[in-house]
Amino acid sequence: MVTAVQIRLKDAGATRELGRVLGRLLGPGDVVILTGELGAGKTTLAQGLAQGLGVSGTVTSPTFTLIQEHQGRLPFYHIDVYRLEDPEAALELGLEEYFYGQGVTLVEWGERLEELLPPEYLEVCLEYDATAGRRATLTARGQHYARILEELKQIAGPGA
Ligand SMILES: Nc1ncnc2c1ncn2[C@@H]1O[C@H](COP(=O)(O)OP(=O)(O)OP(=O)(O)O)[C@@H](O)[C@H]1O
Ligand SMILES: [Mg+2]
Repeated sequence: MVTAVQIRLKDAGATRELGRVLGRLLGPGDVVILTGELGAGKTTLAQGLAQGLGVSGTVTSPTFTLIQEHQGRLPFYHIDVYRLEDPEAALELGLEEYFYGQGVTLVEWGERLEELLPPEYLEVCLEYDATAGRRATLTARGQHYARILEELKQIAGPGA
């Protein structure tokens, strides 16, 4: 069973496409934690993921609103914790409601949640590539997400 997959993303379109493919594979209660420095492509991936979930409206960055809710074939909760001071402040967001509900939850800068993270999730780390573009490393935290990565690998092919 695969627990980690690396994918090269040559441009923003490729980042969005990875999000779309993932969005199609996710189900109720699934959680995606996005990590990566400023401008790494987290919101771009979230926009693709929303499309893959069938969200039709515009998906903007929740940097200032913290949480944006959308409706696709499942509810989509797009969260950005960049502006949160500490996990204490995150507690006040009522994250359990999202993590343990029936929608799909994605958190930009999610590693900052530390002990508030759910026991299982899919981690997607975006990094600047040495030349151009980005590199994504997807890591399954738990068997359920390892199965999703298996499916992703079949779709994405040998590049993944
Ligand atoms: N694979 C890629 N190659 C080159 N540019 C990319 C790639 N993916 C996304 N971008 C571009 O990088 C810029 C920043 O993207 P985005 O806003 O999604 O990053 P972010 O990680 O959400 O940033 P922030 O940390 O501010 O929330 C955008 O101009 C986007 O088009
Ligand atoms: Mg962003």
